[in-house]
Amino acid sequence: MLTTIDKHVKNNVENIDKIEALTTELCNRFGNVMPHDVNLSRQIVSFQANKQLPVYRWYKYKEGFSANLIHYLFNKYDVIEGDVLDPFAGIGTALFASNERGAVSHGIELLPIGQEVMRTRKLVENGIKDETVKRIKRWITGKYWKTAKKDKDIIELNITRGAYPEETKKDIESYLSRIDAEPPQVRQILLFAALCILEPISFTRKDGQYLRWDYRSGRTWGKKRFDKGEILSFDRAITDKLNEILFDIENYKRESRKHKNKEVFLYESSCLNQLPKFKNNFFASIMTSPPYCNRYDYTRTYALELAVLGIDESGLKSLRQTMLSSTVENKEKDLLAINPAWTIPISIANEHELLQAILERLKYLKDNGKLNNNGIFRMVRGYFYEMSCVIYECFRILKKGGYFFMVNDNVKYAGISIPVDLILSDFASSFGFDVENILVLPQGKGNSSQQMGQHGREVLRKCVYVWHKGVKS
Ligand SMILES: C[S@@+](CC[C@H](N)C(=O)[O-])C[C@H]1O[C@@H](n2cnc3c(N)ncnc32)[C@H](O)[C@@H]1O
Repeated sequence: MLTTIDKHVKNNVENIDKIEALTTELCNRFGNVMPHDVNLSRQIVSFQANKQLPVYRWYKYKEGFSANLIHYLFNKYDVIEGDVLDPFAGIGTALFASNERGAVSHGIELLPIGQEVMRTRKLVENGIKDETVKRIKRWITGKYWKTAKKDKDIIELNITRGAYPEETKKDIESYLSRIDAEPPQVRQILLFAALCILEPISFTRKDGQYLRWDYRSGRTWGKKRFDKGEILSFDRAITDKLNEILFDIENYKRESRKHKNKEVFLYESSCLNQLPKFKNNFFASIMTSPPYCNRYDYTRTYALELAVLGIDESGLKSLRQTMLSSTVENKEKDLLAINPAWTIPISIANEHELLQAILERLKYLKDNGKLNNNGIFRMVRGYFYEMSCVIYECFRILKKGGYFFMVNDNVKYAGISIPVDLILSDFASSFGFDVENILVLPQGKGNSSQQMGQHGREVLRKCVYVWHKGVKS
């Protein structure tokens, strides 16, 4: 007779076998549309390729993709003319790159820093007045922040307290106090320039789940001493950034202004709330990269910028909960309360055998204290249910003949490989998309060193999914 422990072991083994068998089944199903695409270098799929491009280079958003990725995909798949949507717009790479090609573009973004970058970019695209350029030049030579009366304090969040050297903090506050007296266009560019330099003038470095603190901050933990290298003075960093911005504005008066009449629309909200508001069959194409299911916390990584934008402790918490579930702190969202029509995508996720087997295994590990963080189960569950609703909506609002491109990474927790590409493509296919390709980047990403020790190295696929809404759908 089997004891309870034996039963657990048996169920456990059966469950692992089931995950493997179902993964193989999906691999077989999509295998013939999953080529390695040698053109998809890491450079083009990440922000790196933007670092050389005027205007795109101003604000470094490490989670972004490059403008060239949009050009590559839109050329390769002969994207039809019409409105383009990015439901997780970040700093708007897809919007501005497709707008350069003559599309009207629409972006939904929840994080205020992304919104601010896009607002500034829009302003620049619409043309900067000569007086604005002159005024900013005067700011550079006059170093107005040195003489300004400081009447503003930056919000200090628990996770940003002590982020700057004392002198730097004073300079930022004087600068922010003084810019309010400027005309709107000048103010917007000056605020944006300050947001661009917060990391290099601070004791912190953006490092995935958290901000990493330099030992000079006096706010370090653990044995390892972290030295981020040179910490720039406010004077030098803001002067360099304003000069870079002016240089691009003056030298690269957009050749793409030929599409001057094409608008870029921004929706400052969660795509879970915004997507249901769009009409059926409206967009010609959708190009996006959602947060990955990898515990990455945008609200922590961008805490310095959010604090300067006036987000306080409770604002930060509510922002984190509204984001697509991708951190261990995300609570379950009531998706049906957001949109009662989502019984369909929810049941697609409920009935997905591989997803359910993975969740069952994670739940088992959680209940037996074997997950290094119990929130992982809830995060993975939330991620797939929410993404199911997003994909369902995207199918509805996409025109027949339109393409949906998505960049995403596979992940692995407690030794379980989660083929995000196969599961989301299977959801897409259930809603009616043809899975035309799952383009695999030549080099996958290894898993974390912590996991590698325990579970061995496995290359996790990074892919661009290409889903097509057939004309007969
Ligand atoms: C991988 S980044 C996209 C980067 C973008 N492709 C670019 O090049 O700038 C994912 C974005 O999704 C945003 N996001 C997360 N949850 C969201 C939600 N519920 N609604 C809208 N945007 C969200 C994050 O703030 C982040 O900017």
